[in-house]
Amino acid sequence: MANAAPLIVILAAGKGTRMKSALPKVLHKVAGRSMLGHVLALATTVPGAEIAVVVGPGMDEVRNEVGRIAPAADVFVQERQAGTADAVLAARAALERHGGDVIVLYADTPLIEARTLQSLQAALDAGAGVAVLGFQAKDPTGYGRLITVGGNTLLAIREHKDSSPEERKITLCNSGVLAFRVPDLLGVLGGIGNANAKGEYYLTDAIEIARSSGARASVVRCPEDEVIGVNSRSQLAVAERIWQDRARQKIMLEGVTLIAPETVFLSYDTVLGRDVTVEPHVVFGTGVTVADGVDIKAFCHLEGATIGANARVGPYARLRPGAALGPDVHIGNFVEVKNVAVGSGAKANHLAYLGDGTVGAGANIGAGTIFCNYDGFFKHKTEIGAGAFIGSNSSLIAPVKIGDGAYIGSGSVITKDVAADALAIERSAQEERPEWAAKFRAVMARRKAAKT
Ligand code: UD1
Ligand code: MG
Repeated sequence: MANAAPLIVILAAGKGTRMKSALPKVLHKVAGRSMLGHVLALATTVPGAEIAVVVGPGMDEVRNEVGRIAPAADVFVQERQAGTADAVLAARAALERHGGDVIVLYADTPLIEARTLQSLQAALDAGAGVAVLGFQAKDPTGYGRLITVGGNTLLAIREHKDSSPEERKITLCNSGVLAFRVPDLLGVLGGIGNANAKGEYYLTDAIEIARSSGARASVVRCPEDEVIGVNSRSQLAVAERIWQDRARQKIMLEGVTLIAPETVFLSYDTVLGRDVTVEPHVVFGTGVTVADGVDIKAFCHLEGATIGANARVGPYARLRPGAALGPDVHIGNFVEVKNVAVGSGAKANHLAYLGDGTVGAGANIGAGTIFCNYDGFFKHKTEIGAGAFIGSNSSLIAPVKIGDGAYIGSGSVITKDVAADALAIERSAQEERPEWAAKFRAVMARRKAAKT
């Protein structure tokens, strides 16, 4: 019996020469995730779907990315890039085994939304044997044109290079995404030849072949923004812009204030709570989770960090992977935090480096405090107890523990553990010479006068 859930075939075998990159095209990132990753994530939203990814020979990095994001997916190698139909046939074993609906996605088309895939499936449920995702192109050059009658009935797809001047006037174009529900898909694909301008096996020829065997073909439309294909770095930047605009709108709808949305950059996995305010020029790298009521002031860079409720971060703060701020924490300007859990209500308001360790609840880290965590070979931990006070410009040489409620005198270089509630101070005694400065000035002024 044919499978009820579809088989999704993702084409990723292209070399992407126009990217001018050592990295395969589909591994270039949008919002911190590879384009292939976005498409795999979309595919996994389809309940029960089987996923097959077609890669080029030797694309081990692409294979690894599939393994990380969709471990259950099958990977097939297309030995020679002979066209999109040939690429789908590279997954022949999956097509034979599955036998149900097949959806084809391109790994370089990362912005398609789940509901658009659902409407493609709905077209199959409504009786289409082939459903093609089409869009009105502002500039149709290069795209396959959709030849239709009566609006959404599709007769054929004509590739740009093979189309007549009349056909080139058509602006309804093929996104590349299509879905099949035909009894003999392998027969249809096997019937595709390569007598065309590029000498390739065009998947788009499947429309006419399927129609000739009695299937109905229809067009499902979506906005052009969703189906932008990335072939160059400038198109990658366009995809990024579209993704960011969409994500900014979404988080504002969910209760986040962005004062200047166009200056805030999010990642695919950024999580922001309600009543979070993000000031201008903030970059969220991957892995950031922010609880409700947090204020993120201007010019912060955050990555791999969690921020507790009502905390305040920035301006000009840098949170690196493993920064875990509790509720009500304040991290101020020019403070860098890496791999440190900061307890609730603790403060590091100015000019500090907190790397590898813990800061207890309510502790106060003075300006200029440095966790000296690295000896050139190993990283060590600095542990600061609850309510401790670290005076300004202190160097804490890790490994070191500062007890709860302890006090570190400003300017100290602390190399040994400090007991709870103790004062540790490490600096030479202050010396004072009465009238020294006045005498010094007088001597120097006389010398200068003698010279000129
Ligand atoms: C294709 C469509 C065109 C559509 C356009 C949308 C065909 C024949 N044409 O053209 O109608 O308007 O996409 O962007 O399908 N690939 C392989 N192996 C191959 C060839 C391609 O895996 O042998 C993969 C590529 O990596 C890419 C996708 O298939 O992800 C599309 O291939 P591409 O050469 O970019 O097709 P277009 O000429 O853009
Ligand atoms: Mg293309």
